[in-house]
Amino acid sequence: MSERVWWRDGVVYQVYPRSFADANGDGIGDLEGIRGKLSYLASLGVDALWISPVYPSPMADFGYDVSDYRGIDPLFGDIEAMDALIHDAHGMGLKVILDFVPNHSSDEHPWFRESRRSRDSAFRDWYLWRDPAPDGGPPNNWLSNFGGSAWTFDAPTGQYYLHLFLDKQPDLNWRNPVVREAMYDAMRFWLRRGVDGFRVDVIYHVMKDAGFRDNPPNPDYQPGVDAEAHRQLPVHTADLPEVQGVVAAMRSVVDEFPDRVLIGEIYLPLDRIVAYYGQNLEGANLPFNFLLIGAPWEARFIGGLIERYEAALPKGGWPNWVLGNHDKPRIASRVGDAQARVAAVLLLTLRGTPTMYYGDEIGMHDVAIPFADVRDPFERNEPGKGLGRDPQRTPMRWFPREGAGFTRGIPWLPLGDAVATINVDSQQHEPDSLLTLYRALLALRREHTALSRGAIKVLDCNDAVLVYERFDDTGSFTVALNFSDNDAAMPVSLAGELVLSTYGEGDAQATTLRANEARVLRSPSARSPGQR
Ligand code: NOJ
Repeated sequence: MSERVWWRDGVVYQVYPRSFADANGDGIGDLEGIRGKLSYLASLGVDALWISPVYPSPMADFGYDVSDYRGIDPLFGDIEAMDALIHDAHGMGLKVILDFVPNHSSDEHPWFRESRRSRDSAFRDWYLWRDPAPDGGPPNNWLSNFGGSAWTFDAPTGQYYLHLFLDKQPDLNWRNPVVREAMYDAMRFWLRRGVDGFRVDVIYHVMKDAGFRDNPPNPDYQPGVDAEAHRQLPVHTADLPEVQGVVAAMRSVVDEFPDRVLIGEIYLPLDRIVAYYGQNLEGANLPFNFLLIGAPWEARFIGGLIERYEAALPKGGWPNWVLGNHDKPRIASRVGDAQARVAAVLLLTLRGTPTMYYGDEIGMHDVAIPFADVRDPFERNEPGKGLGRDPQRTPMRWFPREGAGFTRGIPWLPLGDAVATINVDSQQHEPDSLLTLYRALLALRREHTALSRGAIKVLDCNDAVLVYERFDDTGSFTVALNFSDNDAAMPVSLAGELVLSTYGEGDAQATTLRANEARVLRSPSARSPGQR
């Protein structure tokens, strides 16, 4: 059996740093706070934490507007705090993945300040500047992902600059080799400090059409429902063939250091996600697979999804699965509390590196935010469409008390209700809690290579139940998931010892699953992936 590879055999846990743990009492999470919770993460049984951006930032997009790629924002601590966090994490066997934001910087980054100073600036070509259209308007029709034109006019120099997100997030010019090298060096800066890899923000956006052609209209656009950017098909602003070269170059940088990982954030259809492994696997180790996030929560659909994804993977490409993140509604709000338990079993028994989102292990819900308290610029720009991301970014609940053990100050976003039950401390020793279920699943996955890196075969499906098998030459597990809230017949008869049920106990021989039940059975015989 080959050696354990942490990012393949392990589980990634996303920490949204503003909301994880606040050590200094200012109501916003920080690095010291995260450091204090490393033993929680280690005992939970995850292998790596990915921390959303903590670089210096004006926080227009809460850290996704970086004003220095080699520092730490004072809000979160300082570089020594990051060094200490990496040191302690490694001491506990945890890897640390940083977010890297290459598509755009902050408009307050010295590079952009210099770039906008004059048309003759040595940094002018670090960003994407264009003359106005003949009518004085923006150079083309491109739209910002956060609403409105993707171009902002800069009166002193008489040109527009491009921003696929906020006007405070000008896009860097990745066709400029000097920009590329500066960014690769920033990556090396962190890799040298011991960071174990990067989750690269909107990696598929870094290249734009060299001719700045208009994007075509999207015939499926639903006004009032979809984000305004979806008026167009982003054919000239996303997933250009040239992006692949950048991904491969980033991978080479990461591979200059042993045992690191490159993860790409990619919101594209399945056939395009898998293209980001690279033709010869020279691309991202893990192009994020977000298919579960938008999927109808139905047995047949999810069974089909697993098969389609598995079939689309390039040979040797390792899969991954994500249930939620800081940009999407939480799983417990999407599918309900009972199905959140089924979702936990699904995520942690699929073939592929799972990424968990902080708080999902205790069943945190989206928290409704009154408009006056909205912090997310996406919600402010496009109110009422349900696009705002504050609800899924509320503080982690550690204890059933004021501030939820997250802060002794005033939390930057409301904690929400049900803190008395939805918190780590209350669920810690509760045998039926979601946290206990997550711990059991993480332990099981860690213990058995059949679950962490074995093969997968979808065995059968009916309207309610999906059954698949995970196996290698050390063992075999059958997973049965009831996506409905009724008792449901098993589509195939299962044999084996019941090692886990979302109900705690159960009859291994049962031919039906209880409402919202998921089960893992250990099959009597092991077999190798080739044997059927
Ligand atoms: C994707 C990030 O996940 C999101 O939070 C951010 O707003 C955009 N990229 C822009 O950086």
